[in-house]
Amino acid sequence: MTSQCDTRLLLGTLVQAVPDGPGGKPVLAVTDRGGVLIRDGLIEAVGSAATLRAHAPEGTPLHDYGSRLILPGFIDAHVHLPQTDIIGSHGEGLLTWLERYAFPAECAFRDPAVAQEVSGFFLDELLRNGTTTAVVLGSVHPHSADAVFREAARRGLRLVAGKLLMDRNCPDVLLEEAETGLERTRELIQRWHGVGRLQYAITPRFAPTSTKAQLTGIAALADAFPDVYVHSHLAESRTELDWVRQVYPSQTSYLDVYQHHGLLRPRSLFAHCVHLQQGERETMAASGAAAVFCPTSNLFLGSGLFDHAASRTAGMRIGLGTDVGAGTSFSMLRTASEAYKVSALLGQALSPAELLYLMTRGGAEALDLDDRIGTLAAGMEADCVVLDPEATPLSARRAARCDSVEELLFTTLILGDDRHVAAVYAGGRCQHERA
Ligand code: GUN
Ligand code: ZN
Repeated sequence: MTSQCDTRLLLGTLVQAVPDGPGGKPVLAVTDRGGVLIRDGLIEAVGSAATLRAHAPEGTPLHDYGSRLILPGFIDAHVHLPQTDIIGSHGEGLLTWLERYAFPAECAFRDPAVAQEVSGFFLDELLRNGTTTAVVLGSVHPHSADAVFREAARRGLRLVAGKLLMDRNCPDVLLEEAETGLERTRELIQRWHGVGRLQYAITPRFAPTSTKAQLTGIAALADAFPDVYVHSHLAESRTELDWVRQVYPSQTSYLDVYQHHGLLRPRSLFAHCVHLQQGERETMAASGAAAVFCPTSNLFLGSGLFDHAASRTAGMRIGLGTDVGAGTSFSMLRTASEAYKVSALLGQALSPAELLYLMTRGGAEALDLDDRIGTLAAGMEADCVVLDPEATPLSARRAARCDSVEELLFTTLILGDDRHVAAVYAGGRCQHERA
Protein backbone atom coordinates (compact mmCIF):
# COMPACT_ATOMS: atom_id res chain seq x y z
CA MET A 1 0.00 0.00 0.00
CA THR A 2 1.31 3.49 -0.84
CA SER A 3 0.55 6.52 1.37
CA GLN A 4 -1.98 8.87 -0.31
CA CYS A 5 -2.59 10.78 2.91
CA ASP A 6 -0.72 13.01 5.30
CA THR A 7 0.98 10.20 7.14
CA ARG A 8 4.10 10.07 9.31
CA LEU A 9 5.69 7.76 11.81
CA LEU A 10 7.41 8.98 15.00
CA LEU A 11 9.76 6.62 16.82
CA GLY A 12 11.13 6.96 20.37
CA THR A 13 10.32 6.02 23.96
CA LEU A 14 6.58 6.55 24.47
CA VAL A 15 5.64 7.81 27.94
CA GLN A 16 2.18 8.69 29.13
CA ALA A 17 0.16 8.86 32.34
CA VAL A 18 -2.99 6.76 32.52
CA PRO A 19 -5.57 6.34 35.33
CA ASP A 20 -4.96 2.63 35.80
CA GLY A 21 -3.68 2.56 39.40
CA PRO A 22 -5.81 1.72 42.48
CA GLY A 23 -8.78 4.10 42.67
CA GLY A 24 -7.90 5.57 39.28
CA LYS A 25 -4.52 6.82 40.49
CA PRO A 26 -2.23 7.78 37.60
CA VAL A 27 0.51 5.37 36.60
CA LEU A 28 3.04 5.58 33.80
CA ALA A 29 2.66 3.57 30.61
CA VAL A 30 6.02 3.25 28.85
CA THR A 31 6.82 1.72 25.47
CA ASP A 32 10.56 1.41 24.94
CA ARG A 33 11.43 1.71 21.27
CA GLY A 34 7.84 2.58 20.44
CA GLY A 35 6.09 4.46 17.68
CA VAL A 36 3.15 6.70 16.88
CA LEU A 37 1.66 6.42 13.40
CA ILE A 38 -0.10 9.61 12.40
CA ARG A 39 -2.58 10.01 9.60
CA ASP A 40 -4.54 13.11 8.63
CA GLY A 41 -4.16 14.77 12.02
CA LEU A 42 -5.12 11.75 14.09
CA ILE A 43 -3.17 8.94 15.71
CA GLU A 44 -3.73 5.85 13.59
CA ALA A 45 -1.78 3.39 15.73
CA VAL A 46 0.55 3.23 18.71
CA GLY A 47 2.85 0.29 19.42
CA SER A 48 6.32 -1.11 19.05
CA ALA A 49 8.58 0.57 16.52
CA ALA A 50 9.19 -2.71 14.72
CA THR A 51 5.48 -3.47 14.27
CA LEU A 52 4.58 0.02 13.13
CA ARG A 53 7.47 0.14 10.66
CA ALA A 54 6.26 -3.10 9.15
CA HIS A 55 2.66 -1.86 8.85
CA ALA A 56 3.14 1.79 7.86
CA PRO A 57 2.22 2.50 4.24
CA GLU A 58 5.19 2.53 1.91
CA GLY A 59 6.80 5.94 1.68
CA THR A 60 5.58 7.09 5.11
CA PRO A 61 7.99 9.77 6.36
CA LEU A 62 9.91 8.46 9.37
CA HIS A 63 11.10 10.62 12.28
CA ASP A 64 13.34 8.54 14.49
CA TYR A 65 13.96 10.27 17.82
CA GLY A 66 16.13 7.45 19.16
CA SER A 67 15.86 7.20 22.96
CA ARG A 68 14.15 10.57 23.37
CA LEU A 69 10.76 10.64 25.08
CA ILE A 70 7.53 11.03 23.10
CA LEU A 71 4.71 12.37 25.30
CA PRO A 72 1.18 13.61 24.65
CA GLY A 73 1.12 17.36 23.89
CA PHE A 74 0.91 19.51 27.01
CA ILE A 75 -2.33 21.23 28.04
CA ASP A 76 -1.98 24.67 29.61
CA ALA A 77 -5.38 25.02 31.25
CA HIS A 78 -5.12 28.71 32.21
CA VAL A 79 -3.02 31.46 30.60
CA HIS A 80 -3.55 35.19 29.91
CA LEU A 81 -2.67 36.45 26.42
CA PRO A 82 -2.34 40.19 27.24
CA GLN A 83 -0.09 39.50 30.22
CA THR A 84 2.72 38.13 28.04
CA ASP A 85 4.55 41.46 28.22
CA ILE A 86 4.34 41.90 32.01
CA ILE A 87 5.59 38.48 33.11
CA GLY A 88 7.97 38.85 36.05
CA SER A 89 6.65 42.20 37.34
CA HIS A 90 7.20 42.93 41.03
CA GLY A 91 3.59 43.04 42.23
CA GLU A 92 3.60 41.98 45.89
CA GLY A 93 0.09 40.47 45.95
CA LEU A 94 -2.78 39.71 43.61
CA LEU A 95 -4.80 42.90 43.89
CA THR A 96 -1.88 45.36 43.69
CA TRP A 97 -0.36 43.32 40.88
CA LEU A 98 -3.64 43.50 38.93
CA GLU A 99 -3.82 47.27 39.29
CA ARG A 100 -0.21 48.02 38.57
CA TYR A 101 0.51 45.60 35.74
CA ALA A 102 -2.36 43.44 34.49
CA PHE A 103 -4.91 46.21 33.86
CA PRO A 104 -2.43 48.50 32.04
CA ALA A 105 -1.26 45.58 29.86
CA GLU A 106 -4.88 44.86 28.97
CA CYS A 107 -5.48 48.56 28.19
CA ALA A 108 -2.70 48.34 25.59
CA PHE A 109 -4.83 45.76 23.78
CA ARG A 110 -7.23 48.55 22.72
CA ASP A 111 -4.99 48.66 19.65
CA PRO A 112 -5.80 45.65 17.42
CA ALA A 113 -2.24 45.68 16.08
CA VAL A 114 -0.92 45.05 19.59
CA ALA A 115 -3.36 42.16 20.11
CA GLN A 116 -2.29 40.70 16.77
CA GLU A 117 1.43 40.97 17.37
CA VAL A 118 1.26 39.60 20.92
CA SER A 119 -0.95 36.69 19.78
CA GLY A 120 1.68 35.44 17.32
CA PHE A 121 4.48 35.66 19.86
CA PHE A 122 2.34 34.09 22.60
CA LEU A 123 1.32 31.05 20.55
CA ASP A 124 4.86 30.50 19.28
CA GLU A 125 6.04 30.58 22.88
CA LEU A 126 3.42 27.99 23.88
CA LEU A 127 4.51 25.75 20.99
CA ARG A 128 8.21 26.10 21.81
CA ASN A 129 7.34 24.79 25.25
CA GLY A 130 5.41 21.77 24.06
CA THR A 131 1.91 23.12 24.67
CA THR A 132 -0.55 21.98 22.03
CA THR A 133 -3.81 22.92 23.81
CA ALA A 134 -4.31 26.12 25.79
CA VAL A 135 -7.17 27.77 27.63
CA VAL A 136 -6.64 31.47 27.04
CA LEU A 137 -8.04 34.64 28.55
CA GLY A 138 -7.95 37.60 26.18
CA SER A 139 -8.58 41.25 27.07
CA VAL A 140 -12.08 42.75 27.12
CA HIS A 141 -11.65 43.65 23.45
CA PRO A 142 -13.34 41.22 21.02
CA HIS A 143 -10.43 41.67 18.59
CA SER A 144 -8.14 40.00 21.16
CA ALA A 145 -10.18 36.79 20.82
CA ASP A 146 -10.30 37.14 17.03
CA ALA A 147 -6.52 37.53 16.86
CA VAL A 148 -5.65 34.58 19.07
CA PHE A 149 -8.16 32.26 17.37
CA ARG A 150 -6.90 33.25 13.91
CA GLU A 151 -3.28 32.65 14.85
CA ALA A 152 -4.03 29.35 16.65
CA ALA A 153 -5.77 28.03 13.54
CA ARG A 154 -2.67 28.87 11.48
CA ARG A 155 -0.55 26.78 13.86
CA GLY A 156 -2.92 23.80 14.20
CA LEU A 157 -3.28 24.34 17.96
CA ARG A 158 -6.31 23.34 19.97
CA LEU A 159 -7.52 26.50 21.68
CA VAL A 160 -10.24 27.35 24.17
CA ALA A 161 -10.37 31.13 24.49
CA GLY A 162 -12.56 34.09 25.22
CA LYS A 163 -12.65 37.83 25.70
CA LEU A 164 -12.82 39.01 29.31
CA LEU A 165 -16.08 40.28 30.79
CA MET A 166 -15.92 43.06 33.41
CA ASP A 167 -18.73 45.45 34.26
CA ARG A 168 -17.37 46.95 37.50
CA ASN A 169 -14.25 47.52 39.60
CA CYS A 170 -11.77 47.97 36.78
CA PRO A 171 -10.30 50.95 34.88
CA ASP A 172 -12.96 52.92 32.97
CA VAL A 173 -11.42 52.14 29.59
CA LEU A 174 -11.90 48.40 30.23
CA LEU A 175 -15.48 48.68 31.53
CA GLU A 176 -18.37 47.38 29.47
CA GLU A 177 -22.11 47.35 30.14
CA ALA A 178 -23.19 43.81 31.05
CA GLU A 179 -25.44 43.57 27.99
CA THR A 180 -22.75 44.84 25.60
CA GLY A 181 -20.22 42.31 26.84
CA LEU A 182 -22.71 39.47 26.53
CA GLU A 183 -23.75 40.51 23.02
CA ARG A 184 -20.10 40.68 21.89
CA THR A 185 -19.48 37.29 23.50
CA ARG A 186 -22.45 35.79 21.64
CA GLU A 187 -21.04 37.09 18.34
CA LEU A 188 -17.63 35.58 19.09
CA ILE A 189 -19.18 32.21 19.99
CA GLN A 190 -21.02 32.20 16.68
CA ARG A 191 -17.84 33.15 14.81
CA TRP A 192 -15.38 30.75 16.40
CA HIS A 193 -16.86 28.00 18.56
CA GLY A 194 -16.41 24.62 16.88
CA VAL A 195 -14.35 25.94 13.98
CA GLY A 196 -11.67 23.28 13.53
CA ARG A 197 -9.88 22.93 16.87
CA LEU A 198 -11.18 26.20 18.32
CA GLN A 199 -13.70 26.46 21.15
CA TYR A 200 -15.09 29.40 23.07
CA ALA A 201 -14.96 30.11 26.82
CA ILE A 202 -17.28 32.74 28.30
CA THR A 203 -14.77 34.54 30.51
CA PRO A 204 -15.89 36.66 33.48
CA ARG A 205 -12.60 37.80 35.06
CA PHE A 206 -13.70 37.01 38.65
CA ALA A 207 -16.61 37.75 40.97
CA PRO A 208 -15.46 41.25 42.09
CA THR A 209 -15.40 42.60 38.51
CA SER A 210 -18.87 41.30 37.60
CA THR A 211 -22.28 42.52 38.78
CA LYS A 212 -25.07 40.09 39.53
CA ALA A 213 -26.64 41.10 36.22
CA GLN A 214 -23.52 40.06 34.35
CA LEU A 215 -23.18 36.71 36.11
CA THR A 216 -26.87 35.97 35.54
CA GLY A 217 -26.56 36.84 31.85
CA ILE A 218 -23.51 34.59 31.55
CA ALA A 219 -25.45 31.61 32.90
CA ALA A 220 -28.24 32.27 30.38
CA LEU A 221 -25.70 32.45 27.55
CA ALA A 222 -24.07 29.21 28.71
CA ASP A 223 -27.53 27.59 28.71
CA ALA A 224 -28.02 28.74 25.13
CA PHE A 225 -24.64 27.25 24.08
CA PRO A 226 -24.24 24.27 26.44
CA ASP A 227 -20.97 23.02 25.00
CA VAL A 228 -19.09 26.31 25.40
CA TYR A 229 -16.93 26.73 28.48
CA VAL A 230 -17.17 29.16 31.39
CA HIS A 231 -13.72 30.21 32.58
CA SER A 232 -12.83 32.35 35.60
CA HIS A 233 -10.81 32.63 38.83
CA LEU A 234 -11.82 31.33 42.26
CA ALA A 235 -10.41 31.47 45.80
CA GLU A 236 -6.91 32.52 44.84
CA SER A 237 -5.84 34.81 47.70
CA ARG A 238 -7.12 35.80 51.15
CA THR A 239 -7.44 39.51 50.31
CA GLU A 240 -9.47 38.56 47.26
CA LEU A 241 -11.78 36.45 49.48
CA ASP A 242 -12.30 39.49 51.76
CA TRP A 243 -13.19 41.62 48.74
CA VAL A 244 -15.69 39.05 47.47
CA ARG A 245 -17.38 39.04 50.89
CA GLN A 246 -17.78 42.83 50.63
CA VAL A 247 -19.18 42.89 47.08
CA TYR A 248 -21.42 39.83 47.50
CA PRO A 249 -22.54 40.10 51.17
CA SER A 250 -25.57 37.85 50.74
CA GLN A 251 -23.57 34.90 49.45
CA THR A 252 -22.14 32.44 51.99
CA SER A 253 -18.78 32.00 50.23
CA TYR A 254 -16.84 32.82 47.08
CA LEU A 255 -17.88 29.50 45.59
CA ASP A 256 -21.49 30.27 46.50
CA VAL A 257 -21.33 33.43 44.33
CA TYR A 258 -20.73 31.28 41.24
CA GLN A 259 -23.07 28.52 42.36
CA HIS A 260 -25.92 30.93 43.16
CA HIS A 261 -25.62 32.48 39.68
CA GLY A 262 -25.63 29.12 37.88
CA LEU A 263 -21.96 29.06 36.88
CA LEU A 264 -20.95 25.82 38.62
CA ARG A 265 -21.53 23.40 35.78
CA PRO A 266 -19.79 20.88 33.54
CA ARG A 267 -17.28 22.73 31.36
CA SER A 268 -16.73 25.43 34.00
CA LEU A 269 -13.06 26.00 34.73
CA PHE A 270 -11.84 27.87 37.79
CA ALA A 271 -8.21 28.80 38.18
CA HIS A 272 -6.54 28.52 41.61
CA CYS A 273 -9.15 27.05 44.05
CA VAL A 274 -6.56 27.46 46.81
CA HIS A 275 -8.77 28.64 49.68
CA LEU A 276 -11.70 26.21 49.60
CA GLN A 277 -13.29 24.11 52.33
CA GLN A 278 -13.50 20.36 51.71
CA GLY A 279 -17.30 20.56 51.37
CA GLU A 280 -16.82 23.18 48.64
CA ARG A 281 -14.41 20.91 46.80
CA GLU A 282 -17.06 18.19 46.93
CA THR A 283 -19.70 20.61 45.63
CA MET A 284 -17.42 21.55 42.75
CA ALA A 285 -16.69 17.91 41.96
CA ALA A 286 -20.39 17.01 41.94
CA SER A 287 -21.15 19.91 39.59
CA GLY A 288 -18.59 18.75 37.01
CA ALA A 289 -16.69 22.05 37.26
CA ALA A 290 -12.89 21.76 37.17
CA ALA A 291 -10.03 23.40 39.06
CA VAL A 292 -6.79 24.62 37.50
CA PHE A 293 -3.67 24.37 39.65
CA CYS A 294 -1.37 27.34 38.91
CA PRO A 295 1.70 26.77 41.10
CA THR A 296 4.14 29.35 39.72
CA SER A 297 1.54 32.09 40.00
CA ASN A 298 0.40 31.05 43.49
CA LEU A 299 4.00 31.12 44.70
CA PHE A 300 4.90 34.34 42.87
CA LEU A 301 1.95 36.30 44.29
CA GLY A 302 2.16 34.56 47.67
CA SER A 303 -1.44 33.42 47.24
CA GLY A 304 -1.23 30.02 48.94
CA LEU A 305 -0.72 26.31 48.31
CA PHE A 306 -3.21 24.31 46.22
CA ASP A 307 -4.17 21.12 48.05
CA HIS A 308 -3.97 18.51 45.31
CA ALA A 309 -4.62 15.54 47.60
CA ALA A 310 -7.76 17.06 49.12
CA SER A 311 -9.00 18.07 45.66
CA ARG A 312 -8.46 14.54 44.32
CA THR A 313 -10.14 13.01 47.37
CA ALA A 314 -13.16 15.22 46.70
CA GLY A 315 -13.21 13.85 43.14
CA MET A 316 -12.41 17.12 41.39
CA ARG A 317 -11.18 17.33 37.83
CA ILE A 318 -7.81 19.12 37.91
CA GLY A 319 -5.75 20.71 35.15
CA LEU A 320 -2.42 22.54 35.35
CA GLY A 321 -1.99 26.14 34.22
CA THR A 322 0.96 28.48 33.76
CA ASP A 323 -1.23 31.54 34.51
CA VAL A 324 1.26 33.79 32.71
CA GLY A 325 1.74 36.72 33.53
CA ALA A 326 1.31 36.16 37.30
CA GLY A 327 2.77 32.76 36.48
CA THR A 328 6.48 33.00 35.82
CA SER A 329 7.01 30.65 32.88
CA PHE A 330 5.36 29.43 29.69
CA SER A 331 7.01 26.07 30.31
CA MET A 332 4.72 23.30 31.53
CA LEU A 333 7.88 21.46 32.63
CA ARG A 334 8.78 24.31 34.96
CA THR A 335 5.16 24.54 36.05
CA ALA A 336 5.12 20.82 36.90
CA SER A 337 8.37 21.27 38.81
CA GLU A 338 6.77 23.99 40.97
CA ALA A 339 3.65 21.83 41.39
CA TYR A 340 5.90 19.14 42.79
CA LYS A 341 7.44 21.58 45.29
CA VAL A 342 4.02 22.82 46.41
CA SER A 343 2.92 19.23 46.97
CA ALA A 344 6.16 18.51 48.87
CA LEU A 345 5.48 21.47 51.17
CA LEU A 346 2.07 19.96 51.94
CA GLY A 347 3.61 16.54 52.63
CA GLN A 348 1.97 14.94 49.59
CA ALA A 349 4.88 14.76 47.09
CA LEU A 350 3.31 14.08 43.68
CA SER A 351 4.64 11.10 41.73
CA PRO A 352 6.11 11.49 38.21
CA ALA A 353 2.91 9.90 36.87
CA GLU A 354 0.70 12.35 38.77
CA LEU A 355 2.73 15.28 37.45
CA LEU A 356 2.54 14.09 33.86
CA TYR A 357 -1.17 13.39 34.32
CA LEU A 358 -1.79 17.00 35.40
CA MET A 359 0.03 18.24 32.28
CA THR A 360 -1.86 15.99 29.86
CA ARG A 361 -4.79 13.69 30.63
CA GLY A 362 -5.87 15.66 33.74
CA GLY A 363 -6.15 18.83 31.66
CA ALA A 364 -8.07 16.90 29.01
CA GLU A 365 -10.54 15.67 31.67
CA ALA A 366 -10.91 19.19 33.06
CA LEU A 367 -11.85 20.29 29.53
CA ASP A 368 -14.10 17.29 28.93
CA LEU A 369 -11.87 16.47 25.96
CA ASP A 370 -10.24 13.27 27.19
CA ASP A 371 -11.74 11.40 24.26
CA ARG A 372 -9.66 13.59 21.91
CA ILE A 373 -6.48 14.76 23.61
CA GLY A 374 -4.19 13.93 26.53
CA THR A 375 -3.17 10.40 25.59
CA LEU A 376 -1.32 8.61 22.82
CA ALA A 377 -3.87 6.14 21.47
CA ALA A 378 -5.50 5.29 18.17
CA GLY A 379 -8.23 7.78 17.26
CA MET A 380 -6.87 10.62 19.41
CA GLU A 381 -5.75 13.92 17.89
CA ALA A 382 -2.06 13.69 17.01
CA ASP A 383 -0.53 16.11 19.55
CA CYS A 384 2.91 14.94 20.66
CA VAL A 385 5.94 16.43 22.37
CA VAL A 386 9.42 15.01 21.90
CA LEU A 387 11.52 15.64 25.01
CA ASP A 388 15.30 15.56 25.00
CA PRO A 389 16.47 14.72 28.53
CA GLU A 390 20.06 15.45 27.46
CA ALA A 391 19.45 18.99 26.26
CA THR A 392 21.85 20.67 28.69
CA PRO A 393 25.20 19.55 30.12
CA LEU A 394 23.69 19.14 33.58
CA SER A 395 20.58 17.24 32.49
CA ALA A 396 22.70 15.01 30.20
CA ARG A 397 24.96 14.20 33.15
CA ARG A 398 21.93 13.48 35.34
CA ALA A 399 20.22 11.42 32.61
CA ALA A 400 23.29 9.18 32.35
CA ARG A 401 22.72 8.20 35.98
CA CYS A 402 19.01 7.32 35.63
CA ASP A 403 18.01 3.68 36.09
CA SER A 404 14.47 3.89 34.75
CA VAL A 405 12.26 5.87 32.39
CA GLU A 406 10.29 7.03 35.43
CA GLU A 407 13.42 8.53 36.98
CA LEU A 408 14.42 10.07 33.64
CA LEU A 409 10.97 11.63 33.24
CA PHE A 410 11.07 13.05 36.77
CA THR A 411 14.50 14.68 36.46
CA THR A 412 13.48 16.10 33.08
CA LEU A 413 10.32 17.57 34.64
CA ILE A 414 12.38 19.07 37.46
CA LEU A 415 15.34 20.37 35.40
CA GLY A 416 13.56 20.96 32.12
CA ASP A 417 12.34 23.96 30.17
CA ASP A 418 11.98 24.95 26.51
CA ARG A 419 15.52 23.71 25.77
CA HIS A 420 14.33 20.18 26.47
CA VAL A 421 11.51 20.34 23.93
CA ALA A 422 13.05 18.87 20.76
CA ALA A 423 9.94 18.77 18.56
CA VAL A 424 6.22 19.45 18.81
CA TYR A 425 3.43 17.98 16.68
CA ALA A 426 0.02 19.67 16.81
CA GLY A 427 -2.85 18.09 14.91
CA GLY A 428 -0.39 15.76 13.22
CA ARG A 429 1.92 18.45 11.84
CA CYS A 430 5.37 19.32 13.12
CA GLN A 431 4.89 22.88 14.36
CA HIS A 432 8.17 23.32 16.20
CA GLU A 433 11.61 21.82 15.91
CA ARG A 434 14.40 22.99 18.20
CA ALA A 435 17.15 24.68 16.21
N1 GUN B 1 -7.86 37.17 39.38
C1 GUN B 1 -8.55 38.04 38.61
N2 GUN B 1 -7.83 38.41 37.54
C2 GUN B 1 -6.67 37.75 37.62
C3 GUN B 1 -5.50 37.73 36.79
O1 GUN B 1 -5.40 38.38 35.76
N3 GUN B 1 -4.48 36.93 37.23
C4 GUN B 1 -4.56 36.19 38.36
N4 GUN B 1 -3.54 35.44 38.72
N5 GUN B 1 -5.65 36.22 39.14
C5 GUN B 1 -6.68 36.98 38.78
ZN1 ZN C 1 -5.39 33.89 35.79
